Amino acid sequence: MTTQEIKLVRNSWANVLLNREEAGNIFYKTLFGLSPEIRDLFKSDLKTQNQKLMSSITLIVTKLNKLDNLQQEVHFLAKRHLNYQVKPAYFYAFGEAFITMLATTFKKFNEWTPAMESAWMKVYQLISQAMIEELD
Ligand code: HEM
Repeated sequence: MTTQEIKLVRNSWANVLLNREEAGNIFYKTLFGLSPEIRDLFKSDLKTQNQKLMSSITLIVTKLNKLDNLQQEVHFLAKRHLNYQVKPAYFYAFGEAFITMLATTFKKFNEWTPAMESAWMKVYQLISQAMIEELD
């Protein structure tokens, strides 16, 4: 990712964090709408889970310019997802829900541009590819 893309991702993420509850609602509603069978994998309450997801993305976003460090983080994240019965096939719906959550949140501020979408897709590809390799 370029320095410009990393900057775009970091600056925009701050706005998601300001709206994290609403963003989380959009995310899980979209995810379970796309793939209802995924719902049963989530055992804890979604508010807590959403806080964990948001913190995890925050950490990832801060480490985008330190790829070694990021890879280690993602390695442990993937290992934990083995225990949650997560399969590689679920990453498509998860990514769709994630991008929908971003698009819906930013459209409110008239801030959703093709450059942002492309930068965020790169972030998701980076993380999901690394996680899928560990889960496969
Ligand atoms: C960008 C990719 C992802 C990130 C950053 C992420 C992040 C997280 C985090 C931070 C947790 C909290 C527990 C922990 O840290 O181990 C978690 C739990 C979980 N994640 Fe993910 N996740 C990702 C992808 C997925 C995918 C594709 C699925 C598929 C359905 C999934 C399903 C779950 C489940 C079922 C739990 C356990 C929830 C519970 O305890 O009830 N995650 N995830």
